Amino acid sequence: MNNLNVEKSVTWQCPSNLAIVKYWGKYGKQLPQNASISMTLKEAKTITTLSWESKKNNDQNIALSFLFDGEKNKAFESKLTKFLTSIAIDYFPFLMNYELTIISKNTFPHSSGIASSASSMGALALCLCTMEKNILRNNVSDVEFIQKASHIARLGSGSASRSVIGHWAMWGLHPNFSEANNEYAVDLTPSVHPIFNSLKNDILIVSAEKKSVSSTAGHQLMENNPYAMARYAQANQRIVQLYSALQTGDVESFGMIAEAEALTLHALMMCSEPSYMLMEPASLAIIKKIRSFRADTKLPVYFSLDAGPNIHLLYPENISLQVQTLIDQDLLSQCQNFQVIRDGIGVGPSIL
Ligand code: PMV
Repeated sequence: MNNLNVEKSVTWQCPSNLAIVKYWGKYGKQLPQNASISMTLKEAKTITTLSWESKKNNDQNIALSFLFDGEKNKAFESKLTKFLTSIAIDYFPFLMNYELTIISKNTFPHSSGIASSASSMGALALCLCTMEKNILRNNVSDVEFIQKASHIARLGSGSASRSVIGHWAMWGLHPNFSEANNEYAVDLTPSVHPIFNSLKNDILIVSAEKKSVSSTAGHQLMENNPYAMARYAQANQRIVQLYSALQTGDVESFGMIAEAEALTLHALMMCSEPSYMLMEPASLAIIKKIRSFRADTKLPVYFSLDAGPNIHLLYPENISLQVQTLIDQDLLSQCQNFQVIRDGIGVGPSIL
């Protein structure tokens, strides 16, 4: 770091996450229309280094240089400058006094179609909170630190609020959960049955192309979706059902909810106005194969999708070998360039 001539720097790695009950629809400043529950991944991560040195002038703008995968990235740089400008006054006023350098990379292939906003915003928020701790020398507790990081991550990308917490996280107000709130995610892990703390999550890459409709646009389309209110109520009911399955170790109910939520998300897209689809023919082919494999073998393999065509295979660790055979024999041929990211539940972010 000496060659960068910086006074201080911090590096965090933060994983991505997969929502089982989905957040789809928002209001105000990145507030969710319904609660969501997610599993934090292990392998799909962003690693971010934030460095800072005192400014030589008094200007009060954010001064940022951003590198992605070792290369200057002007498009991300201006996006991030805007984001930092939007949060600096309220949350990190000291940022204006420093020249900032952010260097970021992902552990998953650059164009694998895996949304990196959750892991990248999570890693950035954690770096900012550590910088604050170093500069202000304040004594925040670990709980307060994670709450603020989750809150800041949320302002960058709603789902990122959950990525700063390991294993199982919940974000969004819900009448049955006194701690759950719209500002930051909370940790559900202590109540979760051990079978879910070694859950596998293999990501079958159907397409790595950029999505035709962004998540931001998708959330916006929920505002006029005729099914929106019913959807938000349904999601909150499914939170109750999912939580019960997670507590009791009921893998079958868990899988049914995961699949129903994934298909609901895509159904909402199809009945938005204008309508759109992010699933591809291969996504449907894989879903059918998973369901017929399950019917034939009675093995607990389920699927989920994010806002894209790729399929997440969810299953308990003890059937890994059988699922490997299913992937190799039946599913790999449907994947773009035979790409699969073998992932699973993870412990959450760490400082390097
Ligand atoms: O965090 P955003 O704005 O990218 O929205 C994410 C939405 C889903 O990934 C589809 C669902 C979720 O809860 O993560």
